[in-house]
Amino acid sequence: MHVVSIVGARPQFIKAAPFSRALRKEHHEFLVHTGQHYDPEMSDIFFEELEIPRPDINLGIGAESNLEQVSHMMLALHPIIETQNPDWIVVYGDTNSTLAGALTGQLLNVPVAHIEAGLRSYNRAMPEEHNRVLTDHISSALFCPTQVAADNLARESITSGVFVVGDVMIDALLQNRSRAQERIGLGIMAANGLRAKEFFLVTIHRASNTDNQANLSGILDALARFPDVRIVVTVHPRLRKMLDQFGLSPSPNVLLILPVGYLDMLALSSSARLILTDSGGLQKEAYALHIPCVTLREETEWIETVTAGWNRLTGPDCAKIVSGVREALAPPPADRPDFYGSGDASVQIVKALESLGS
Ligand code: UD1
Ligand code: UDP
Repeated sequence: MHVVSIVGARPQFIKAAPFSRALRKEHHEFLVHTGQHYDPEMSDIFFEELEIPRPDINLGIGAESNLEQVSHMMLALHPIIETQNPDWIVVYGDTNSTLAGALTGQLLNVPVAHIEAGLRSYNRAMPEEHNRVLTDHISSALFCPTQVAADNLARESITSGVFVVGDVMIDALLQNRSRAQERIGLGIMAANGLRAKEFFLVTIHRASNTDNQANLSGILDALARFPDVRIVVTVHPRLRKMLDQFGLSPSPNVLLILPVGYLDMLALSSSARLILTDSGGLQKEAYALHIPCVTLREETEWIETVTAGWNRLTGPDCAKIVSGVREALAPPPADRPDFYGSGDASVQIVKALESLGS
């Protein structure tokens, strides 16, 4: 089997690591990096730490509008797909790189496999919601992390080529957890004086939070309401840009650091007292690591973490975040079902692609 895999944004590198490893045991992969994320701490560090094969090509399509990004990626992908003539195009998640890969496959008549299919926020204001709906409707193989995701697809009449395989991010987490544990209390934690269970970990990068001054201020005001708690924010470039643009600076208890690599991030997330985030991936990781989560959004694609009582949705409103944090500090529920599989999603995906034939 010959596969062209397309990645471009930070979470896709993490998802690609276990899948590439499983696929390359018996098959051939041509790895395309669109260039959507390009800072070394948003890209190279993941390839190095997770031993992801070097991309065969980097399209170099970075910061642009959604329209420019998707269309430029498609134009650049066209000759690559024609030359490679793959059995499958594999795309991950819901970014502009995902949509560009899926649309190019559809227009060139190459079957598309979507890893992390069936997720829905039902919020059409998010570009990611359009990206994932469109990608699912184009794909011939749809790899769902949960039955909830497969049910979402069934409601849209997508029932063929659907496989519930678990979550490739859990594969990545389980494959790297022991390496990350060696860093707890050392490295990034020691450098910043962070002690296990004594700090909150925060990430903010959704356009609805970063690009709206009132919303971003609401979040920062909430962090200021916990003056005795050290709060560490790994600052996504979009957040950095908008903090500068709005002239906002957080309260003294908040420590802003550059984005960190996956191993340092796992060390931080597994030893945080709680996590506040608008990230998709981090909500799942918090759950997998038994860390209570406050999600700075009005809705989530990972709804089972909320119904299980380990996650709560606050949006960017200061008062709601403060009460969400207080609630999250109470003892968590005793029950914590394993929603995301046992770490073999990538292997199951390769087997399913083999069974579908080329
Ligand atoms: C993108 C995805 C989002 C995903 C996130 C993961 C889309 C529409 N959004 O959002 O779904 O959750 O990645 O992190 O695809 N920038 C840099 N350096 C970089 C990367 C970005 O400076 O290495 C800056 C640029 O100014 C850029 C801005 O960040 O314009 C936003 O980057 P972009 O990739 O467009 O969107 P994200 O917010 O990263
Ligand atoms: N992550 C990381 N370093 C950071 C922040 C996040 O390695 O400084 C990891 C995080 O642990 C998770 C993934 O990046 O595995 C999530 O990516 P992101 O939040 O950028 O995107 P989303 O999942 O929201 O699409």
